[in-house]
Amino acid sequence: MKIFHQPGELQAYALECKRSGKRIALVPTMGFLHAGHASLIDIARERGDEVIVSIFVNPTQFAPNEDLDKYPRDFENDCRLCEAHGATAVFAPAPESMYASDRSIWVDETTLSKVLCGKSRPIHFRGVLTVVSKLFNLALPDVAVFGKKDAQQAIIIKRMVRDLNFPVEIVLGDLIRDTDNVAMSSRNRYLSEDERRRARSISESVFYAEKQLKAQGVAAVDEVVEYARKHITEAGGVVDYVEVRDSSDLEAPTASSCGVLFAVAAVFGTTRLIDNCFVDF
Ligand code: PAJ
Repeated sequence: MKIFHQPGELQAYALECKRSGKRIALVPTMGFLHAGHASLIDIARERGDEVIVSIFVNPTQFAPNEDLDKYPRDFENDCRLCEAHGATAVFAPAPESMYASDRSIWVDETTLSKVLCGKSRPIHFRGVLTVVSKLFNLALPDVAVFGKKDAQQAIIIKRMVRDLNFPVEIVLGDLIRDTDNVAMSSRNRYLSEDERRRARSISESVFYAEKQLKAQGVAAVDEVVEYARKHITEAGGVVDYVEVRDSSDLEAPTASSCGVLFAVAAVFGTTRLIDNCFVDF
């Protein structure tokens, strides 16, 4: 498995792969990899001859009050996991090599990024879209794999690819849970044992909502939102949002919606966790 630290090296390698007719699959990550990331690498392996995993804690998607400095890192273990799952290259750049100090171009989204996580993280998706665009230009992927765990991110990236005509197919992998049903996340490492136990109220709320929405459609919306708010608050969580939105455009769902996204963000201790489910009608 090759390891690149310089953007130019990765791009030269990707160009060479393209010229020899290889299909490139990219899995963008911020590292501290777990089984959720591994499942995306497995999907990429099936879709591409070359599987490039990027490991970059992207500073531009963190606000000054967020956890950039303490974001967990374990590069050696990440490389082991990538290799075990058949990645052919890892790209791990230093922030200085990705961003010029006088950078002045951003990729921004103006509708979908204003709701859900975008309300409490107003610059987050601009940072994500900018870095993902850069990764697309460096790794030149035919296909890029993202997780449904970050449902809003996935929907916004699909919109960017459509609106800016990136020649990249976006494939989404299912949300992977731990044995206690807590959605896998690099940030789970911040949780104490007690917080972790209480955080199960989030996935319990997601499962409840999934069942009710499948059975009753949009008629269940108010009740599942109320249930989740109460259940998570009673477990000691501070709810950022609990919402049901049309999964095609993140607008409020209507009787003619073909599918919805039930999405939760809540803080346990100092750790902000997200979870969700998609329900198609
Ligand atoms: P990160 O949080 O490391 O996640 C990388 C990818 O793994 C994302 O597509 C995310 O949705 C997926 N993922 C995380 N946890 C998952 C789980 N439990 N099940 C399935 N997939 C999961 O998302 C980012 O990094 C960044 O914003 C990035 C896209 C790399 C841009 O910096």
